Amino acid sequence: MKKFLLTALCCAVLAPAFAADPIKARQDVFKQYKQTVATMGKMVKGDTAFDQAEFAKLAAHMDELAQQPWQYFTPGSDKGKTDAKPEIWSKPAEFKAAADKHKAEVAKMKATAAKATGINDVKAQFGAMQQTCKACHDQFRAD
Ligand code: HEC
Repeated sequence: MKKFLLTALCCAVLAPAFAADPIKARQDVFKQYKQTVATMGKMVKGDTAFDQAEFAKLAAHMDELAQQPWQYFTPGSDKGKTDAKPEIWSKPAEFKAAADKHKAEVAKMKATAAKATGINDVKAQFGAMQQTCKACHDQFRAD
């Protein structure tokens, strides 16, 4: 029993930051970001029909994804096949602020999408959310 508890404790503590390959782990989340935002973007632009239930589901999925990448920017993962700039580690407060701003706009997107009655209800917030992607990439991602 004691051993079980210790094991549970160890892994609960390690879980948030543990990944065999943190670079790949965060890139995988961002790949899902791209897919989700692209599907939402098609509806916002009118390329596909606006389906409120589907759009709300995608926005909720974005909100789940938005909690995930940051834990994988672990010390030492600035080296390797990564586009992450060194500033992420040299200016951690600014990086955190960019991630927090992003999370706030994604949460707003989720709330807006949940009660939207049409495309015009979500356009502005979709733009605001995307702006936080760009703002962070401009400062912290090499392209
Ligand atoms: C707070 C900073 C930050 C925010 C916000 C952010 N990103 Fe990124 N993104 C990064 C960094 C840093 C990388 C580079 C990761 C790496 O290569 O290790 C990246 C990489 C990516 C990639 C490339 C993944 C790959 O295949 O290598 C995509 C696509 C992407 N982001 C999409 C998005 C989208 C879409 C949003 C908004 C919905 C977003 N990101 C928001 C920092 C951010």
